[in-house]
Amino acid sequence: MDVIRIRGGRPLEGSIEIGGAKNAALPLMTAGMLTDERLVLSNVPKLADIRTMSSLISQHGVAVEPQEPEGRRLSIGGAITNDEAPYDIVSKMRASILVLGPLLARVRTARVSLPGGCAIGARPVDLHLKGLEQMGATIKLEGGYVDASAPQGLKGATILMPFVSVGATENLLMAATLADGRTTIANAAREPEIIDLAHCLIAMGARIEGVGTDKLVIEGVKRLHGADHRIIPDRIEAGSYACAAAISGGSLLLRGARLDQMEALARTLAECGVEISEQSDGLLVTRARTLSGTDVSTEPYPGFPTDMQAQYMALMCVAEGAAMLSETIFENRFMHVPELNRMGARINVHGASAIVRGVPSLSGAPVMATDLRASLSLVLAALAAKGQTTISRVYHLDRGYEAVERKLAACGADIERLSA
Ligand code: EPZ
Repeated sequence: MDVIRIRGGRPLEGSIEIGGAKNAALPLMTAGMLTDERLVLSNVPKLADIRTMSSLISQHGVAVEPQEPEGRRLSIGGAITNDEAPYDIVSKMRASILVLGPLLARVRTARVSLPGGCAIGARPVDLHLKGLEQMGATIKLEGGYVDASAPQGLKGATILMPFVSVGATENLLMAATLADGRTTIANAAREPEIIDLAHCLIAMGARIEGVGTDKLVIEGVKRLHGADHRIIPDRIEAGSYACAAAISGGSLLLRGARLDQMEALARTLAECGVEISEQSDGLLVTRARTLSGTDVSTEPYPGFPTDMQAQYMALMCVAEGAAMLSETIFENRFMHVPELNRMGARINVHGASAIVRGVPSLSGAPVMATDLRASLSLVLAALAAKGQTTISRVYHLDRGYEAVERKLAACGADIERLSA
C-alpha cells in the first residue's frame, strides 16, 4: 500500500487546477441511467470513486464510455438489463445508493445492497426509502438488501424531509422526474451539487422548479433524453487547497474555483486572517497575517460544510488562541483528532464539539488516514509541521483528491508518494 511522505515548513506558491466536483459527478452519473439516450458529462474528475461508480452503472447494463483518452468526458446511457446493485460494490462506496431512484423510475424494480455504517457515522438511508414509499414504491429489507418495486410506476407525492439530506434529495429528485404527476420535496438540500444535478436533469427534459431553494417541485415527464453537461468545480477540493495556502503561510491561485459556492468557508477564513480574492481565472488565497482561532459549526449548505471540518481543524491547530469546532451532521467525524494530536496538536473532543488550542508548531510523525477528508487534514498538518510525516492508508485520499502530491509539489511542497 502506498504512503505519502511530506517534509513540512515550505510556504506554497503557485497555482492549482481545481477539478470537477466528485459529489456532483456521482449523482450525475446515475442520472445517466434515467434515459436510453446518451448523457455526456465533461470535467469528470479522475478518482477512485468515479471508477467505482462506472463499474456499478456498467453492471446494470448501462454503457459508460470515455469520450477522450483522459477520461474527463464520459458518455452514459442505454437499457438497464440488471436491477441489482451488489454488496461488493455498495460496501466500497455509499453513494452507490443513488442508483435506487433511477432504477425504480426506469425499470420499476431495484435490488440494492444496504450500505451499512461507515467511518464517520451510522449514515442510514431511511429518508431515501420513506420518500420512495411515499411515491408508491413497496420496499422490503431482506438479507442486507433493499428490495423495491413499483409495478404501476412511481407517483408524484408531497415529501417533507424531517432534516436535510443531500443523498435523499438527489435520489428522490431523480425518481420524481419520471413519476406520474407532481412531486414536492420540502426541506430539500440546496448544495451546489444538487443545483448541478437539477440543471442537468432539466437539460435532459425534466421539469423542475425551485432549483437552489429548499422546495423542489417536479412535474414528472414520460421520458428523458440525452444531454451534454459540464460538472461544476469541486468546492471541497478548492477549500482544501485554500487551507493549504493558509497553513503553509503562502499564496495559491485556485484555478476554476468559484467563491459563490464556498462563501461560508471564505467568511470563516477571512476571520482567521486569510485573504481570498476573485480573479478572472479563479480564487487567489493568501495568508495575510498570523492565523487566529475562530469557532465554526458545520451545517447543511449554505452553512460551513462538514466536508471541510477536518481540513479547517488542521489550520486551527497552528492558529493563535483557541477554536471550537462543532460537528452537527455526522456523529463520528473526529477520527483525525488522535492523529493530529500525535503531531503535537492540542485538541480535546467533548461530544459533538472539539476544542482546538493553537500551538506554535506541529512536528512530523507517522500517521494514518481514516477517511477521505481526515486524510487531507493530515496532509495539511504535515505541510506545516517541522520534520517528516508519513501518511499511510492513502487509498482514502485517492477516493476524492486527484493527484494531490503532484498538485502540491508543483507549488513547492516537499511531498512524494512511496510504494510501501
Ligand atoms: C453527502 O453524503 C456527501 N456525499 C458527503 O460527502 C457529505 O459529507 C454529506 O453529503 C453532507 O454534506 C456525496 O455527495 C456522495 P446526507 P450523504 O444524506 O448524502 C443522516 C465526502 O467526504 N441521514 O446529507 O450520504 C446522515 O447519517 C462526503 O465527500 C439519515 O439519518 O449525506 C447524516 O447524519 C462524505 N437518513 C445526515 O443525515 C438518511 O436517509 C446528512 O447526510 C440520510 C441521511
